Amino acid sequence: PRERGWVHRHLYQYQGFWHTSRQLQGVLACQRHFEAQDTDILLVTTPKSGTTWLKAIMFSLMNRTCYPDTQQHPLLNDSPHNLVPFLEINLYAEKDVPDLTSFAPPRLFSTHLPFVSLPKSVQDSACKLVYLCRDPRDIFVSFWHFTNKLRPLNQGNNHLEEMFDLFCTGVSLSGPFWDHAVGYWKESLKNPRRVFFLKYEEMKEQPAYHLKRIAQFLGCPLSTEEEAEGVVNEILKLCTFDNLSNLEVNMNGKLASGEANSAFFRRGEVGDWKNYLTGEMVERFDKISKQKFSDSGLVL
Ligand code: A3P
Repeated sequence: PRERGWVHRHLYQYQGFWHTSRQLQGVLACQRHFEAQDTDILLVTTPKSGTTWLKAIMFSLMNRTCYPDTQQHPLLNDSPHNLVPFLEINLYAEKDVPDLTSFAPPRLFSTHLPFVSLPKSVQDSACKLVYLCRDPRDIFVSFWHFTNKLRPLNQGNNHLEEMFDLFCTGVSLSGPFWDHAVGYWKESLKNPRRVFFLKYEEMKEQPAYHLKRIAQFLGCPLSTEEEAEGVVNEILKLCTFDNLSNLEVNMNGKLASGEANSAFFRRGEVGDWKNYLTGEMVERFDKISKQKFSDSGLVL
């Protein structure tokens, strides 16, 4: 029998979802210590849903008055992952509990935490959550490439079929993917002022429309003057796949955790799954989506 791929040998299940051991420590520390503020904004995704893109967009949107000159923009010299850190992967993965009170409000953080695992202070506060979802077929293919790119030198590649089987049974980083998405989808229906649900495919199709909706949701709508000045287009231009992926920092830089920034940029398109998945695999995904989403109205 084939050896299990390197990523999956190191996953642990907690509250129904899978995490690496380092991440799990971060989840526990974050649940214990994170004190949400009412003005906080959390950007939530499962890995490979377009987190990097949304981080860049939301950072630019929320800081648009600080950097009116895009030639001076922090995104030109820093990874979106440094500008919008993950709670459980970055801030709470360290030994010492971080002091986040020095972050100026509104604080922008990101997380892959499933809804059930959000710290109590998040549940109890009025902070806002923006959830970005993506077609699981593209997530899976993206994830497969990502894990192989980041594989340690002495480990073999993850086999596509094996990883697919595991993904279908829910075993993937922050998986089961379907349960993760449904958790936030239901919450967005129940509480639309608190949870904003976005889809990668829709963002790709109408980025300006969705950027304005995000701004509205966050309570920082674009003014008529800003619209006239082309602020939306400036932000979107800065954050395109081509622009970000060709910046020196994203081509050759590394995160403090060691990952190459370039690993977060591959194709940035919708539908690449067609080049990798067999008809049988697609049918299996469709069946799971139908079964998991049927009573929720979520369609991906
Ligand atoms: P692909 O592997 O399909 O190309 P995450 O940021 O959640 O890790 O997701 C990574 C995926 O988002 C990758 O998908 C990556 O190429 C894509 N991506 C990164 N930056 C993007 C951008 N600016 N616009 C669109 N997609 C982007």
